[in-house]
Amino acid sequence: MLKVAVIGAGNIGKIHARCYADNAQSQLVAVCDMARDKADALAQEFTAKSYSSVEELLENEELDAVSVATAGVENGSHHFEPVMKVLEAGVPVLCEKPISNDINEARQMVAKAKEKNVLLGINLNHRFTPAAARLKQLQQDGALGEVLFINMALWFLNPNDPPPWHHIRALHPHSIDVMRFFGGDIKRVQCFMHKAPGKTSSWSTLSLNVQFASGAVGHLTGSQDMSWNHAIERCEVGGSKGRAIIENVFQRLEFMPRDSPEKTVLENGIMSGMSHFDDTFKIRIGKFIEQVAAGEPLAASGEDGLAAQEVIEAAIRSHQNGTVEDVIEN
Ligand SMILES: NC(=O)c1ccc[n+]([C@@H]2O[C@H](COP(=O)([O-])OP(=O)(O)OC[C@H]3O[C@@H](n4cnc5c(N)ncnc54)[C@H](O)[C@@H]3O)[C@@H](O)[C@H]2O)c1
Repeated sequence: MLKVAVIGAGNIGKIHARCYADNAQSQLVAVCDMARDKADALAQEFTAKSYSSVEELLENEELDAVSVATAGVENGSHHFEPVMKVLEAGVPVLCEKPISNDINEARQMVAKAKEKNVLLGINLNHRFTPAAARLKQLQQDGALGEVLFINMALWFLNPNDPPPWHHIRALHPHSIDVMRFFGGDIKRVQCFMHKAPGKTSSWSTLSLNVQFASGAVGHLTGSQDMSWNHAIERCEVGGSKGRAIIENVFQRLEFMPRDSPEKTVLENGIMSGMSHFDDTFKIRIGKFIEQVAAGEPLAASGEDGLAAQEVIEAAIRSHQNGTVEDVIEN
């Protein structure tokens, strides 16, 4: 039984806490939030201990793993400090996405995990669905053939007008991670961004072209100007032997083999499938616990989180300079 703590008791920290408490392999022993009342309330719900500083948490608890679900600017500026402290203490970390909104901090986090030989994972939960696992299996079995293109779309509505790069830095680690999951490393990018009517700060709609290291090509349409009523995430993978589409993260997988008119459709079961998007947290956190317990390399690692942010920074440079940009490799 792994003893786990959650740092950051906001909406997402609450979901992490519930996942650890419900998992038979983990026990939520502590919650930490600099807002004492939030830490107390969440800790009380799970009969865990409450802390208002990371130092105090690490001094008083023997932990096997920690989730960092803080937020900050572009939903990522508060991750660095707690993650570095927990890694320094030698405890495996699952950090929310983006790994950091600051690429230099993200690089330092990955370097620290390597230096201390401690596991660092990122909550890139969109790839942790039965549909994505099934498509990965088809790919590994050779049914897709060689990946030739990936078309990705991720959109919803953010009625606010956040800082310029919030949309790409805070949201698209998810879509870029799913593209990398099926297409491998991304080598070069070209990006156009647009501000929807009424937005003066946020580059809230974007079009990103990518070239994978394999030579395959890809595209992402991203937007925070659409609606919550309709499809929010779609991934189409075109291979030399077949084409597949994942609709809405987990709702449906379609596979169309190139040499047959027969199409395979896997619908998310209503009795046994995922019931809600939040189930992606349950699956992702379950995998994290399993891999920490086994001491094996993590799926959706710190390196994967960093690679997604490197693609994002290259996309920002491309938009600013009107150029095709190389992605920095670590
Ligand atoms: N994976 C997903 O699907 C998904 C979805 C939404 C949000 N997120 C991510 O989850 C994270 C948290 O989002 P949220 O909406 O819960 O944020 P939030 O602002 O509601 O909560 C963050 C909490 O962290 C606390 N905090 C900040 N720095 C701290 C520190 N050094 N020590 C202790 N506590 C600290 C704050 O007091 C706050 O209570 C963000 O990074 C966001 O990008 C992930």
